[in-house]
Amino acid sequence: MGKAKYRLTNLATSKSSDLDVLSGTIGPDVVDIGSLWHDHGVFTYDPGFMSTASTESRITYIDGDAGVLLYRGYPIEQLAAQSNFLEVSYLLLKGELPSAAKLDSFTRSITRHTMLNQSLLRLYGGFHHNAHPMAMVAAIIASLAAFYHDTTNITDDRHREIFSHRIIAKIPTIAAAAYKHALGQPFVYPRNDLDYCSNMLHMFFAVPCEPYVVDPLHAKALDLLFILHADHEQNASTSTVRLAGSTGCNPYAAISAGVSALWGPAHGGANEAVLDMLEKIGDVSHVPDFLARVKDKAAGARLMGFGHRVYKNFDPRAKLIREMCHKVLAKLGQTENPLFELALKLEEIALKDEYFISRKLYPNVDFYSGIIYRALGIPRPLFTVMFAIARSAGWVAQWQEMISDPTLKIARPRQLYTGPVLRDYVPVKKR
Ligand code: SDX
Repeated sequence: MGKAKYRLTNLATSKSSDLDVLSGTIGPDVVDIGSLWHDHGVFTYDPGFMSTASTESRITYIDGDAGVLLYRGYPIEQLAAQSNFLEVSYLLLKGELPSAAKLDSFTRSITRHTMLNQSLLRLYGGFHHNAHPMAMVAAIIASLAAFYHDTTNITDDRHREIFSHRIIAKIPTIAAAAYKHALGQPFVYPRNDLDYCSNMLHMFFAVPCEPYVVDPLHAKALDLLFILHADHEQNASTSTVRLAGSTGCNPYAAISAGVSALWGPAHGGANEAVLDMLEKIGDVSHVPDFLARVKDKAAGARLMGFGHRVYKNFDPRAKLIREMCHKVLAKLGQTENPLFELALKLEEIALKDEYFISRKLYPNVDFYSGIIYRALGIPRPLFTVMFAIARSAGWVAQWQEMISDPTLKIARPRQLYTGPVLRDYVPVKKR
């Protein structure tokens, strides 16, 4: 039940309603407007959901002003320093850090779900060689619904758990198969003796003609990036998974919808766009001209990797990735990485510029991540695929939370209609 109330009054009719205010454990209260349409015959209007909470959730908390990110209450900084991606995936799914035995059992289950059905592998042959990997990944994940339509009883806990493990386990294999298809190289099967990130790198970069040894630094850097990208409350792609899933559709189809939403340059596609932007700027001497174009609305340029709907302070993930850039590039002997130097200078200049300060625009998770992916040898078209691999843990956790909510209703927003009023059909001879 709510506490203090908001009173809504229609000044034309003086009709009033007291609306409940609901409080969470931390963070802003919400006003329950569920009765508005019934009691007042009006809808709220909030394109882009700037002031709208779409659901209750216990998974991830963000304080945009303080630059705080918690997964099930644990600060992202502590998880980045002490955990690993599969343990974080378990935490997001189950709500608690696992015991050693539970983590071992979870890891074994994920390991044993990494293979793809051979018929699924044949689907890659239908893609053109230059198909964007995000298009292939979205299509193949949707195709899992064609394979697993008989074991996805979404009312069954065990089916829901198997689905979650399959998505987390198979998405690196699906991504690697897309990459191998684009290269025209043979597909490399997953190996059960490798950890999650080493397995992914092996499937990406091994070839049948010679042994391939995964660099543990690369695997560690990838694991940290995956922790940082694993979940982020009700972002656009997660909201897409929830909305699609609210219809009771096959859960693989809901995740595929999330992959498609993530692809946009305003969302997960920004990491690829940042590298394109840095290469176009080319040199620090061109930064002032570029920023001038960004500030000139008519030019339509954006500082990609900057700004965020929620963070009006530093994105804590961007800070951690920038620190990681220094370490990874130094260990890779790339201390003179010109793109990283350019990104650091761009950040320094932008953060002193009134345009960005007044709009509270700071580097977000995508600003530096591509520089590390590039240093690890991941091709640019696969940067957003990396984001999707990590976010698959958050998507399945959020889907689980939604689908197991006994009060779940299909998500069906309303609208403000501004189209033509009633009019009669005119036969073509009279138009
Ligand atoms: C992710 O939601 C999430 O949590 C997402 C994410 C996750 O983990 O799931 O964090 C991952 O998507 C990070 C964001 C990656 N996208 C980019 O880096 C693309 C560049 N950034 C933007 O386009 C923009 O900042 C958004 C989309 C991220 C946020 O957009 P909002 O909240 O709708 O803000 P807005 O577009 O209304 O901008 C407010 C003002 C505008 O200027 P005015 O009209 O007030 O004059 O800031 C300006 C914008 O023009 N602005 C920018 C800018 N971002 C906002 N100007 C230049 N460059 C930018 N990047």
